[in-house]
Amino acid sequence: PDVNPLRSLILAAARNGSIRRVVATAPVSRDVVRRFVAGETTSDAVAVTRRLVEDGLTVTLDYLGEDTTDSAQAEHTVQSYLELLDRLHAEGLADRAEVSVKLSAVGQMLDEDLALENARRICRAAEAAGTTVTLDMEDHTTTDSTLRILGELRKTWPWVGAVIQSYLHRTLDDAERLAAEGSRVRLCKGAYKEPESVAYPEMTEVDKSYVRCANALLAGDGYPMFATHDPRLVRIIAERAEAHGRKPGSFEHQMLYGIRPEEQLRLAQQGHTVRVYVPYGEEWYGYLMRRMAERPANTTFFLRALLTR
Ligand code: FDA
Repeated sequence: PDVNPLRSLILAAARNGSIRRVVATAPVSRDVVRRFVAGETTSDAVAVTRRLVEDGLTVTLDYLGEDTTDSAQAEHTVQSYLELLDRLHAEGLADRAEVSVKLSAVGQMLDEDLALENARRICRAAEAAGTTVTLDMEDHTTTDSTLRILGELRKTWPWVGAVIQSYLHRTLDDAERLAAEGSRVRLCKGAYKEPESVAYPEMTEVDKSYVRCANALLAGDGYPMFATHDPRLVRIIAERAEAHGRKPGSFEHQMLYGIRPEEQLRLAQQGHTVRVYVPYGEEWYGYLMRRMAERPANTTFFLRALLTR
């Protein structure tokens, strides 16, 4: 059962067509959207990247869209990444900004080979631009397929990053297996609604699992990327990194665009690598609603902005 009624309400609103039209067209909601999403175009994404880089941060860009069952849509997503990578290179940002890709947006639901081929095209463009790619992780039914595609890509491009989710029971094993030299691994809690057969239902268990997986990554020879806004986990990561003799630069912190921006700057000013996950594109609505559902305070802010326009 969903114990958070506001969360259920927001997720229901996210599926409601008329609410979507109001949110998408209200002039003031554009400002609120802009707090979490860079904008709809490549130029918007590049402009936000430049601003963050000038503030001493690094970036990973996500062209929004997922769960495509249409190969033309998958092709559109690939083309958007190719255009973005070209622009990052041309504007001298490719050493500070990489891309994050959801395989379901490039055809994973249609055919694993199509997703692999599309991901290869994005990796080739990233290599030409002088940057890297991380494969986002989606719901648990896709984990094995995503790790298979990762394995294939890493034969050519060992720098392709993986994502693991501490809410899954399997993840400590994955962390130990992936913590090898040259590997880039993002650890997050996990954002999908998962059954108890595969995931910890309690947040305290998810947090404990996060710490176990963080230890495994820090003990290994790879490059861990700690994606969390959780102040307690950020503190624990600092302690554990020190205990493992990890210097700043041998791991990084990652946070979402618009969430705890002061903390992002504080960590960067301490000498840490901080990477901001920046989503952009026309398909911002579902992403925004998931961020609202995670945090009632954001929703209040959002609804107030809508009502007082
Ligand atoms: P949690 O949600 O438990 O929040 C802990 C604390 O952080 C809060 O109490 C508050 O202090 C602060 N906080 C959190 N959200 C906030 C907000 N919106 N505004 C203000 N403060 C807030 N998931 C996935 O399944 N696959 C993936 O590939 C990725 N990729 C990814 C990349 C990056 C860079 C990040 C940061 C996150 C992801 N995620 C993800 C999402 C992740 O799994 C998770 O859903 C969110 O990061 C929220 O979890 P937290 O660890 O931040 O903690």
